Amino acid sequence: MNRRRAIALAGIGVVGAGAAASAAALLRDDHPATAGASGAVEFYGEQQAGIVTLAQDRLHFVAFDVVTKSRDRLVEMLREWTEAAARMAAGKDAGLIGAVDGIPEAPPDDTGEALGLPPSGLTLTIGFGPSLFRNADGVDRFGLAAQRPAALADLPRFPGDALDPKISGGDLCVQACANDPQVAVHAIRNLARIGFGTVSVRWSQLGFGRTSSTSTAQATPRNLFGFKDGTANLKAEEEGLLRDHLWVQPGDGPSWMEGGSYSVTRKIRMLVETWDRTPLAEQEAIVGRAKGSGAPLGGKDEFDEPDFAVKGEDGEPTIAEVAHVRLAHPDQNGGARLLRRGYNFVDGSDGLGRLNAGLFFIAYQRDPRKQFVPVQTALARNDVMNEYIRHVSSGLFACPPGVREKGDFWGRALFG
Ligand code: HEM
Repeated sequence: MNRRRAIALAGIGVVGAGAAASAAALLRDDHPATAGASGAVEFYGEQQAGIVTLAQDRLHFVAFDVVTKSRDRLVEMLREWTEAAARMAAGKDAGLIGAVDGIPEAPPDDTGEALGLPPSGLTLTIGFGPSLFRNADGVDRFGLAAQRPAALADLPRFPGDALDPKISGGDLCVQACANDPQVAVHAIRNLARIGFGTVSVRWSQLGFGRTSSTSTAQATPRNLFGFKDGTANLKAEEEGLLRDHLWVQPGDGPSWMEGGSYSVTRKIRMLVETWDRTPLAEQEAIVGRAKGSGAPLGGKDEFDEPDFAVKGEDGEPTIAEVAHVRLAHPDQNGGARLLRRGYNFVDGSDGLGRLNAGLFFIAYQRDPRKQFVPVQTALARNDVMNEYIRHVSSGLFACPPGVREKGDFWGRALFG
């Protein structure tokens, strides 16, 4: 066991024996193990870290446009990015020389703001957007059009969408998650620095306070509506479900995506001021769960299965037909499940006396056409929560399998 894995196990061990057992299971499966708050997460592996890795507390998500016309230059940058990402995940400077040990005449190969900070569970997860394969004008800039997965089909327009194209889409994305915001921002900033002239930042989003658990070792956090979020999420320990619903399998096509996953991002503004004037019982009816315990209405404990058949004295279903958890439940969506991995955000105020707050929703899945699209279609049509939320940005990315070892690089199988 290398030092980082030892730290990862020790970090999990402090939260109890059950959690340590889960951690051991994760290691056996070679899923990226997480660290204690400050330790390192293994960068190399069959799958990219940052998907089933225990959700960290902070996010810096960035989408890039590729500005070079040269495929070779793009591949060269992906190699440089991979080396830098592996170094930063291990808590090192982005470059070999570092922030302060180079010659005074040259700009440093690390920006310096993470000097002295531990790895903080940093994971960096890359994805390729539909426009990398063919841009808005239909041009196959990098000879990749034939490699575009059918599952990376553009998302349809959903009822109520208020998407801003300036903060949507992107040729590439990198999701940086860490337990220290400075570490996440440092990682994205250094990738942008390395990519100067090859890519430019299209949009980026900071997030705080994970809104999902991705492992049974984690307690369920709360979103900005004050509700537990992530109770019925796909979890790292559910191997069979992950195979069926998360990872691209042989035969799904194309082969370069085998072992990868597709991410959908939605920046969802939450009208928290309106929500805060809504009675508790109504809030709970909208979600379909109790605000305190997180139990489904009609149940007792957080992890009780919701019983959608139960009716109240008035003859109405205890969990309303239009409640969020009923509409989003796999039973209502042909068995579709998602691995949700979102974060809260507050981007200052909106100039109208309200917080510009919400959920930066991220969901991973095996095929968005069969998972995100039907679930979001049902929610967009009928969810009563829609009165309190607005989807303002959208992203769709093919996240390739993991970088196996030193010398391998992000997207090797795609670029050949
Ligand atoms: C701001 C927007 C949203 C809020 C505040 C929100 C909140 C919640 C809450 C409190 C739960 C119950 C706890 C849990 O099981 O995690 C939940 C469940 C769920 N949500 Fe959302 N959600 C939002 C948007 C979405 C979107 C856009 C999707 C997918 C298109 C989605 C899919 C799900 C699913 C699949 C479940 C689990 C349902 C089940 O199996 O019981 N949510 N959400």
